[in-house]
Amino acid sequence: MSDLSHLLANNRAWAARMEKAEPGFFKGLASQQSPRYLWIGCADSRVPANEIIGLPPGEVFVHRNVANLVVHSDLNCLAVLDYALHALKVTDIIVCGHYGCGGIKAALEPSEGRIVDHWIRHVRDIAKHYKADLERMTTPAEQNHRLCELNVAVQVVHVRESPVLQAARHEVNVHGWIYDVADGHLQDLTPMVEEVRALEPSVRV
Ligand code: CO
Repeated sequence: MSDLSHLLANNRAWAARMEKAEPGFFKGLASQQSPRYLWIGCADSRVPANEIIGLPPGEVFVHRNVANLVVHSDLNCLAVLDYALHALKVTDIIVCGHYGCGGIKAALEPSEGRIVDHWIRHVRDIAKHYKADLERMTTPAEQNHRLCELNVAVQVVHVRESPVLQAARHEVNVHGWIYDVADGHLQDLTPMVEEVRALEPSVRV
């Protein structure tokens, strides 16, 4: 069995630093959480939600999966959405994709018949629906970038159209962001959502 004692040591050191910087920090969090944000992001190890937006524990409720998908029948994601909206009453939902996403890359390549290909099939559907738009891109790298962006926009629509969100009794903003693993910068793609819907108004994937 591998030795993970260095990770446990890191944890103790981190907890001590947090407590030193803000005495009572953990005690304050122990009884409740009241995050304002729900983050729906990719499982990729390079895109740690709290860290890249500079928020400590307690500030952001997080759901991550391969390629940051919001699938209408995914009970895992829907349960997170339901809890975030109806119990925590988050006011802002951020769907965050990232350039260089392995899930997006896989969707542009032939299937290998693995379990993950079933999941990625949702991204293949997006690539199919927006084929004409993707074909305007001249290189495979540009196509990949564009599909990363289109995927964010489509997932934002999925959140906005979900019955769970529509049943919310408070105002909720749904944002689409993309993260560049090459420079650590986030970019707001929210204005692109309407543009993407206009490209293919009949699409409901
Ligand atoms: Co990814």
